[in-house]
Amino acid sequence: MYSATPDDWHAANRARWDERVSIHAASDFYDLEAFRAGKEALRAFEIAEVGDVTGRTLLHLQCHIGLDTLSWSRHGAAQVVGLDFSEPAVETARGLARSMGLGPDRAAFVAADVYDAASAVPDSSYDIVYTGTGALNWLPDVERWAEIAGSLVAPGGFLYLAEFHPLADVLDDATGSVVTHDYFSREAWVDETPGTYADFDAPTVHNRGVEWQHPVGDVVSALAAAGLRIEFLHEHDASLFPRFGTLERQADGRYRFPSDRPRIPLMYSVRASRPANG
Ligand SMILES: C[S@@+](CC[C@H](N)C(=O)[O-])C[C@H]1O[C@@H](n2cnc3c(N)ncnc32)[C@H](O)[C@@H]1O
Repeated sequence: MYSATPDDWHAANRARWDERVSIHAASDFYDLEAFRAGKEALRAFEIAEVGDVTGRTLLHLQCHIGLDTLSWSRHGAAQVVGLDFSEPAVETARGLARSMGLGPDRAAFVAADVYDAASAVPDSSYDIVYTGTGALNWLPDVERWAEIAGSLVAPGGFLYLAEFHPLADVLDDATGSVVTHDYFSREAWVDETPGTYADFDAPTVHNRGVEWQHPVGDVVSALAAAGLRIEFLHEHDASLFPRFGTLERQADGRYRFPSDRPRIPLMYSVRASRPANG
């Protein structure tokens, strides 16, 4: 349901996320045992689009339990920092880092709101600022996000974002073919669905979630306004989960419409750099 932003949005979202951390840590979806044994958490397109991270510093905003963050370390990043406002999420990520033998100089995790990131993270800038897959929708103000995230990109570095495409949120859940919601709505979307994407049947108490959809044009314009140069905006015909009943799981583990159906973008990714001299 769309509504004006409720006063409790921040507390409600934190309670929702805090409660889901232990469920996620125990889930097959995140499969921490396989991750500890070396399973890749990042998506192939992200690895290809970010490129070589060897020896670079990387800040992951809204890192959740740290699997993606720590995967960048496995790919050779010299130092990774993950930030999330959920204390239990950050604690879980720290435990994973310890189990991988990574000290805080190699992998640090900070509990803070993304809007406070500039004062919360250990360094003033990073070679790569990474964020994505279900992050921006929890933030009310994408211009402020871009200003803060952009300020943390070192000269010569870049921000990389991979997100679910907001067009998908406009269409009906069953078929993904009927325009049902307003693409340009700036209102909050308040939802009370129990469980989680990692375990739909998990019993949960803190179910109130407040989200926003951000048109792709708003996100890209906000990054440009933050002084970053847009290197690319890629739209992807696949999703990571069956967003609509009509999507089919394919050999690469991603979900697409059947080949006889016209496609729409289901995810997008952006790389935006800070000029070396600016
Ligand atoms: C869907 S998860 C990100 C998932 C991640 N890509 C993964 O699969 O592990 C969204 C994360 O954003 C965090 N979050 C939500 N609002 C936040 C805020 N205002 N500041 C910092 N973190 C926030 C939540 O705690 C949660 O861990």
